[in-house]
Amino acid sequence: MAHKDIKILAIETSCDETSAAVVENGRKVLSNIISSQIDIHKLFGGVVPEIASRKHIEKIDPVVKKALEEADCDLSQIDAIGVTYGPGLVGPLLVGVSHAKAISFATHLPLVGVNHIEGHICANYIEHPDLEPPYLCMVVSGGHSHLVKVCDHGDFRILAKTRDDAAGEAFDKVARAIGLGYPGGPKIDKLAKEGDPEAISFPRAHVNDAPLDLSFSGLKSAVLNYMNKCQMTGVPINRADIAASFQKAVVDAIVEKMMMALDEYKTDTICLAGGVAANSALREACIKACDERNARFIYPSPVYCTDNAAMIGVAAYYEYMRGIRDGFDLNAVPNLKIGAGHK
Ligand code: KG4
Ligand code: ZN
Repeated sequence: MAHKDIKILAIETSCDETSAAVVENGRKVLSNIISSQIDIHKLFGGVVPEIASRKHIEKIDPVVKKALEEADCDLSQIDAIGVTYGPGLVGPLLVGVSHAKAISFATHLPLVGVNHIEGHICANYIEHPDLEPPYLCMVVSGGHSHLVKVCDHGDFRILAKTRDDAAGEAFDKVARAIGLGYPGGPKIDKLAKEGDPEAISFPRAHVNDAPLDLSFSGLKSAVLNYMNKCQMTGVPINRADIAASFQKAVVDAIVEKMMMALDEYKTDTICLAGGVAANSALREACIKACDERNARFIYPSPVYCTDNAAMIGVAAYYEYMRGIRDGFDLNAVPNLKIGAGHK
């Protein structure tokens, strides 16, 4: 007898995108609606949590309806509701969690809380039907930079992390310093194409007692110091060269740790995930480094790198299949850690 297809309605509101998706059997995206608030937040140079919460409240219902419409289904054809419950901004998270609970209460559909970072990792399943654990994943997002071992579905272990700033945070701070505005990552990515990555030698941090750990705050300070020095000595600032040289330093550090991890954990598959995984130079460098050692490198399309509900639908599917069900006491957990959710 054929297995019944499982459809998950997923909701993501952890930061500044209101997103809903319908995902079938954890791999097939039937719809993925993303309503971005970037145009509002860029006026303030970053995400304003209170404004984000209010916008999520306005958008969540139409975004969920559109996701169902585009997937050509109604709630009676859905098997479970997946929702991000952390980590993220508490107000925005609460909007998604409350909305998911309301749908679950009204329809009696099971509720499955999802860890946002685990969702980022699961984005890799969408376009790689044969990807199965165990594998390594470097997660580089706006708020997190972690090297994770995915031992099994629902079994995530942190192997290393950033000691200070996340990779995306470094992109955003440096972009602000050179006057590119928010969000910095895509803007640096674009401007760097016009600059020389070898023009300025910025430092690559090494954490002595934990060689796989990352650190980006020294690099950010080096960029600021370089700019101050130029200003004081009257040397003209070439923003494209700064963008390209800074980006090269970030990319070198991330790729170096990924290659070290392949050696240390004696595996030949590594994935990339999170907003910074959309960076064109990082993707190219990973492809090259993995090619050279015959390792398999897997990365999501840009739309599945930055925040989206499809990845939450994938993660929710695997939790649902493990029998995970949340109650109406599911709450937002702003500092939720990887692997700290359902056991
Ligand atoms: O994963 P994400 O959407 O949100 C979090 O969970 O934090 O990541 C957002 C981060 C931002 O810092 C943004 O600047 C960065 O990802 N980002 C990029 C690119 N696109 C987004 N960084 C570098 N290059 C990009 N193309
Ligand atoms: Zn994210």
